[in-house]
Amino acid sequence: MSLSQSPIRDSFGSKFGIIAAAAGSAVGLGNIWKFPYITGQNGGGAFLLIYLLCVILIGVPVMMSEFAIGRRGQRNAFGSFKALSPNKPWYMVGLMGVVAAFFILAFYSAVAGWTLEYIVQSVTHRFANQSTANLQTSFNSFISGTYRPVIWQLIFMALTAAIVIAGVKKGIEKYTKLLMPILVLLILILCLRSVTLDGAMAGLSFLFKPDFSKITGETILFALGQAFFSLSLGMGTLITYASYFGKNENLALTAVQVSLADTIIAVLAGVMIFPAVFAFNIEPASGPSLVFITLPGIFQQMPGGDIFGAIFFVLLAVAALTSTISVLEVVVAYFAEELKLSRKKATLLASVSIAVLGIFASLSFGPLANFKIFGKGVFDLLDFTASNVLLPLGGLFIVLFIGWYFTKDLTRAELSNENKLRVRFFPAYIFIVRFVAPLAITAIFIYSIFIGGLG
Ligand code: TRP
Repeated sequence: MSLSQSPIRDSFGSKFGIIAAAAGSAVGLGNIWKFPYITGQNGGGAFLLIYLLCVILIGVPVMMSEFAIGRRGQRNAFGSFKALSPNKPWYMVGLMGVVAAFFILAFYSAVAGWTLEYIVQSVTHRFANQSTANLQTSFNSFISGTYRPVIWQLIFMALTAAIVIAGVKKGIEKYTKLLMPILVLLILILCLRSVTLDGAMAGLSFLFKPDFSKITGETILFALGQAFFSLSLGMGTLITYASYFGKNENLALTAVQVSLADTIIAVLAGVMIFPAVFAFNIEPASGPSLVFITLPGIFQQMPGGDIFGAIFFVLLAVAALTSTISVLEVVVAYFAEELKLSRKKATLLASVSIAVLGIFASLSFGPLANFKIFGKGVFDLLDFTASNVLLPLGGLFIVLFIGWYFTKDLTRAELSNENKLRVRFFPAYIFIVRFVAPLAITAIFIYSIFIGGLG
């Protein structure tokens, strides 16, 4: 079953373009605040070790499976499943991915918009001489506003749409090739600043010193869940991107390189954040407050703090943008290919409708704070449904599809580029996608719905 590539289909033009786009998707808000915090609180070096095992043993094989489906299918996530299993309901997995993309982008773009506000606040010296309590109040009053957060979110969506509308080679590839090196440079500058602060060692040891007493079954599930989100798995993002890969691309090698890049950036983010947190005697707090409240507090205590603050929020915005592009592309490719729209119309339709949902997510911190569905505000509901339900389910069906439905011969043909590459890892890979990954993903799924979701 070899599907011919349609002559008008866009594609990536270079090996570096593929890595930049896929690593750009993977590296995002998940790496920069979530990873360091989880690592610090869950046994430091010990958690890092488990995280690495999750990435290598499960993340890489799942990524290879998404790559195989997309490049074989030569279509968007929905269309690829449909092409590979005509008349079977597997296309539902692709459809679920499109819905997940809608939900993720709606809430992710709200947070991405905040990074733009904070760039402006840094360069206009708004953090100078503010106490942590003041920073907290101004953050809360900003996100609960009616217009400012929404306007920034719409600007962020417009930036994302402007890149996606230009196409795969001239939009996504061109900009991720430009933005990813900038991101690496900015992160290195901030790491250097951070590790040269007095008292930086305490932060590094918080991050790296293995404390095996903190490792429990729950930690392992955390690590696996974080690996999935961080590597952009389970939603068809990488199926969609792989449909633009060339026939000679080594899928297994690319999966290893992208996972490695994502992990290195996550670790560097920890090296950037924790020495500063400890040098200024700040409690390593969690989530958005670390990034939007604690860090501005730290920056204003540093010489040249406004500059480092601005660099940091530019970094965050760039990381978010290369991720939002990849999420929007899932919906755009689906609209373009299944509804037969031009790329321009598909991008407009996708981004405008996602923005409308996004406005509700933004407003759920302010005017819509009391509007709850199943006890959750719009933002939390979208996050929960996508991250805790749709992504793990998508991941599960992706490995079941490759492990049990798509035949071993076809999978081997795709991963070996029709026998041009040696695939000595193949038996181990098949064992993982058949048994290890489905069981592990089922465990995270049950955990996150019944324990995480209620907790
Ligand atoms: N991986 C990105 C991050 O770490 C977020 C992201 C982009 C994502 N595309 C995705 C997560 C697809 C899950 C699925 O921030």
